[in-house]
Amino acid sequence: MSGPVSDHYNSVDLLSRIERAIGEIGRTPDTVTIEEIAPLEDFHIGGRAATAALLPRLELKEEMRALDIGCGTGGAARYGAHRYRCKVDGIDLTLNFIEAGKTISSWLNLSSRVHLHHRSAMDTGFDEDTFDRAWMFHVGMNIEHKRELFSEVKRVLKPGGYFLIYDIMRGEDDASPLAFPMPWASDPSISFVRGADTYEEHLEAAGFAIDGIEPQRDIAAAFFERIAASKGNPPPAISTATLMGASAAEKSANLLAAWQSGQIMPTAILVRKPA
Ligand SMILES: C[S@@+](CC[C@H](N)C(=O)[O-])C[C@H]1O[C@@H](n2cnc3c(N)ncnc32)[C@H](O)[C@@H]1O
Repeated sequence: MSGPVSDHYNSVDLLSRIERAIGEIGRTPDTVTIEEIAPLEDFHIGGRAATAALLPRLELKEEMRALDIGCGTGGAARYGAHRYRCKVDGIDLTLNFIEAGKTISSWLNLSSRVHLHHRSAMDTGFDEDTFDRAWMFHVGMNIEHKRELFSEVKRVLKPGGYFLIYDIMRGEDDASPLAFPMPWASDPSISFVRGADTYEEHLEAAGFAIDGIEPQRDIAAAFFERIAASKGNPPPAISTATLMGASAAEKSANLLAAWQSGQIMPTAILVRKPA
């Protein structure tokens, strides 16, 4: 399942680098907590604060089974399973992320409730009507064929099930070209950042009912204030720089510039599969 998107995210020795990072804060796999490792895992604008603010929209309950699409190493999947005691399946195209994520789940004793799979969002391999809930955080920027993606999500959701998207979408300046590398793409060939109107159109065409479209201005402003203040400094030991690799600083600087110039707006969209 390798290709240009997983090549972009795959990196050498990811797990050893994660182990080194937790060592730098005086922890081991046996002692690190879900909160301590979160800043390395939640690879989206706002990090764990955004995860904690957005997941309640899904009204997750203990008896539910949820799907995290493009879960990365599974930080949000584990947060959901830990906080709501539900079962979560995570799927991701990047083998390194899934392998590291399975190990982290075992460190945190969450392997019985979090199952991570190396699969594509375009063909999840699950039976229809499997999941009560689904979410997808910062993945759509890599996916060109959004209507097909949303049809696949609708297929595996149960009738009445909610699907929450939190993606980087185009902002007020929706025309000027983005500068690369970005955290999700080293060049434009694997970048498909679109406006919320494009998502709305494809979600409706796939048969979803839209419950709400919310630009995440406050979460983004707080996040980018921190990025701007720390510009030029080395990243903290526990941060997504571990996932972004050697060009982490350049990717963060381009992302900050895109926010400051109004090219991007992180946006949440909540939809429902009709009952
Ligand atoms: C920016 S990361 C976000 C990871 C995670 N959702 C989070 O918020 O921490 C984007 C992730 O989407 C995954 N991805 C991109 N396209 C995908 C696809 N077609 N199917 C599954 N995963 C995909 C990448 O491998 C990567 O792990």
